[in-house]
Amino acid sequence: MPKRPFRNRLNDLAPKEWLKFQKSWFIHNPPPRRKELLRHPAKFPETLAQEFIEFFTKRGQTVLDPMAGTGSTLVAALRSGRHAYGIELNPEYARLGRQVIADERRTRDASQPSLACELIQGDASQFAALAEAHALPLFDYVLTSPPYWNMLHAAGAKNQRKRMADPRLDVVYSDDPHDLGNIADYEAFLTALSAIYASLKPHLRPGAYLTIIVKNVKKKGAIFPLAWDLSSRLRSHYVLKDEKIWAQDNQRLAPYGLGNAWVSNTFHHYCLQFRNEAPEPKSHGA
Ligand SMILES: C[S@@+](CC[C@H](N)C(=O)[O-])C[C@H]1O[C@@H](n2cnc3c(N)ncnc32)[C@H](O)[C@@H]1O
Repeated sequence: MPKRPFRNRLNDLAPKEWLKFQKSWFIHNPPPRRKELLRHPAKFPETLAQEFIEFFTKRGQTVLDPMAGTGSTLVAALRSGRHAYGIELNPEYARLGRQVIADERRTRDASQPSLACELIQGDASQFAALAEAHALPLFDYVLTSPPYWNMLHAAGAKNQRKRMADPRLDVVYSDDPHDLGNIADYEAFLTALSAIYASLKPHLRPGAYLTIIVKNVKKKGAIFPLAWDLSSRLRSHYVLKDEKIWAQDNQRLAPYGLGNAWVSNTFHHYCLQFRNEAPEPKSHGA
């Protein structure tokens, strides 16, 4: 019997590459950053973003990052032949991101089709107005990572102490009250963040995926399960498909709670996969 040809509606990957990505965890140790991008407190690697973009889209489709930082998603999209748009609140990060995108374009093969790649400075909570003002298209995929609540304000953290000592590095994203990383109340933060993601829905193609990279937050000896709380809030807008765990195995272990209490060294993030489908019914009860 002839083998059925592999029909791939989602991406341009071969079956073997597809299967490899389906594993529910992966190790990705970020390569060193470009010096000028160290200023940003928490970017994700372009190499990681590219793997997600190449799984969740085909060449020529369009990607959005509504909290784009210095543009990692947009650079990764360019590298994989996708159009990309980003919104970023901090004008300095938006400027740095545009510079990185311009450098990336210079190194691209001139014979490749030109791709839209635009990093817009703005507040993602005003997404509908920004989409209208910039005539943004319908998106095939969203890849993004929000502030992990107001975790950067935890001055005691070792990484934060190191950043405080170097005036070239930002400790927090900004002092802008619209910056989600400055919302002190956890429930208010969750509400503002979920409202932004929900507001993207009319701008997404039916069936489009959203990947949100987050971590559960530890504060004063308790966990605020941001990944799980966000999943729960967004379930009335999108279908939660699953999580993929991003682990880092090149970090130094710290002796938190040694001999006294359980305190983990948390070296993983959740890459939550949602899909723009009719949301699940609220209850499965009779
Ligand atoms: C985790 S960082 C994203 C980093 C990005 N993925 C990268 O690799 O550069 C979160 C970003 O959200 C931005 N941000 C916070 N509040 C925002 C808002 N209301 N609208 C748009 N961006 C916002 C911050 O300035 C910060 O750059």
